Amino acid sequence: LTTIAEIKKALGGVLVPGPLRDIVSLNLLKDFTFSGEDVTVNIIRAALPDNATRWLESKVPAALKEAGVKGKVTLAFEDGKPAALNKVKHTLAVMSGKGGVGKSLVSGLLALALVREGFQVGILDADITGPSIPKMFGLDGMAYGSESGLLPAGTRSGIQVMSINLLMEKTDEAVVWRGPLIARAITQFWEEVLWGELDYLIVDLPPGTADAPLTVLQSLPIEGVVMVFTPQDLTALIVKKAINMVRRMDKKIVGLVENMSYLYIPELDRRLEVFGPSHARELAEFAGSPLLAQIPLDPELVKLCDRGEIEEYTGPVVAELGRALLK
Ligand SMILES: Nc1ncnc2c1ncn2[C@@H]1O[C@H](COP(=O)(O)OP(=O)(O)OP(=O)(O)O)[C@@H](O)[C@H]1O
Ligand SMILES: [Mg+2]
Repeated sequence: LTTIAEIKKALGGVLVPGPLRDIVSLNLLKDFTFSGEDVTVNIIRAALPDNATRWLESKVPAALKEAGVKGKVTLAFEDGKPAALNKVKHTLAVMSGKGGVGKSLVSGLLALALVREGFQVGILDADITGPSIPKMFGLDGMAYGSESGLLPAGTRSGIQVMSINLLMEKTDEAVVWRGPLIARAITQFWEEVLWGELDYLIVDLPPGTADAPLTVLQSLPIEGVVMVFTPQDLTALIVKKAINMVRRMDKKIVGLVENMSYLYIPELDRRLEVFGPSHARELAEFAGSPLLAQIPLDPELVKLCDRGEIEEYTGPVVAELGRALLK
């Protein structure tokens, strides 16, 4: 007789197109009904398009036969909604007062650090007008979904991504949405996307301290904020403002990341402080939170991000970020 554990293990080998995850980790498996040698797999259909249910109908019976099930395998689908199935343990928002300092890059590297530590990780791209996560991970297709919800797109290392970019026909089309619509899109990304079982969901915020970042902090269950900045004087002032704003909203700052801290010149074995001396210690003290990492300016990062291959990055700062965050 095949045990439930064996059946679940076999189901783990059947990946749903799009997120490239199995129905167990997507929380779509309800239970099994046994009748003699026959098994019915009861599946919740939340966000699954017809092509995905057809895929499961062909792959699941084969996988269970392989695992030793002798009888007939039937799939029974019932309706459901992502909000009822999502189990996200930690939701962290990546923020800065200023644009272009590397929030999206840090969101990507944080996700990468956590996935390399063995966690199940997602990125919610809350930048509706300037989404940049899909490009960094080389995701250029469209997200799948159904009436009941949307499926994230899985990256090569299994990070679950949802972004407005995955819902638009052409990714270079500018999005001109007004505040309330943006707010709705972001809350929909939380409620109507099938994140399933996640240890960490990283929310990449749009720049500034205006509408969109506030909406996210108010309407999603954000456990903590990672604050990103670069070493310029002016930035320090703006970052302090952003830190104060987070405090006023009773949110915790889990850590700070200084980006573009320096450029390493191997020929001279020297660190060049391109943007001036670091304010990292001062800001960490001001926030009362740890400095998670100082990320160098790295041409390799630019190249990999442009190619959609950030997951190939081997710089030591990724592991550093992971260790510091998990401490
Ligand atoms: N440490 C770094 N080394 C090299 N390039 C970097 C580094 N950090 C960021 N960049 C590059 O700088 C640009 C801006 O970074 P990113 O998109 O992450 O900033 P952002 O804060 O998310 O911007 P926005 O405010 O528009 O959302 C990107 O092209 C990115 O590849
Ligand atoms: Mg960004």
